[in-house]
Amino acid sequence: MVGQLNNFWNQLPEGAFALAPMEDVTDTVFRELILSVSHPAKLKLLFTEFTSTDGLCHAEGYKAVVHRLKVNQSERDLIRERNVKLIVQIWGNDPEKFFRASKAIADDFQFDGIDINMGCPVNKVIAEFVFCPHWSAFTCKGNYSGNH
Ligand SMILES: Cc1cc2nc3c(=O)[nH]c(=O)nc-3n(C[C@H](O)[C@H](O)[C@H](O)COP(=O)(O)O)c2cc1C
Repeated sequence: MVGQLNNFWNQLPEGAFALAPMEDVTDTVFRELILSVSHPAKLKLLFTEFTSTDGLCHAEGYKAVVHRLKVNQSERDLIRERNVKLIVQIWGNDPEKFFRASKAIADDFQFDGIDINMGCPVNKVIAEFVFCPHWSAFTCKGNYSGNH
């Protein structure tokens, strides 16, 4: 199915590298650092650390989690210069909140895709029955775009 869609997943150069999503690690500063020391032709995908859909859909929670979506201008400049795609990862357990959070991200932020975390093996997360394993992403323009 992915092969039939017109989106960046189908245009990645062969052998492209991605920076995996890492909680409390892959914030804008870390991503920029990794970008700046990586081969420009190789690193083509960056993932944010994950952000809670519960948090994004709650007035107070939003203030507590929105920093996870921050992209410094210096990172943005490097991303543009190197034609790198930046994907935001979200997690949660309520489909309605996934929808609302995804819409807010698409409307208010400039990410190239949204990745649903479905595979966090942390006991606390499993205990809360969060969606599992790594599964899909779709572009903010609405095209379903595949797995990672
Ligand atoms: C500190 C740390 C935090 C991580 N946080 C996330 C996360 O927020 N979301 C996610 O999907 N995977 C997370 N992972 C898993 C990584 O994205 C990756 O899938 C895993 O490290 C395996 O990659 P590797 O085979 O290149 O080591 C985390 C891994 C580490 C080490």
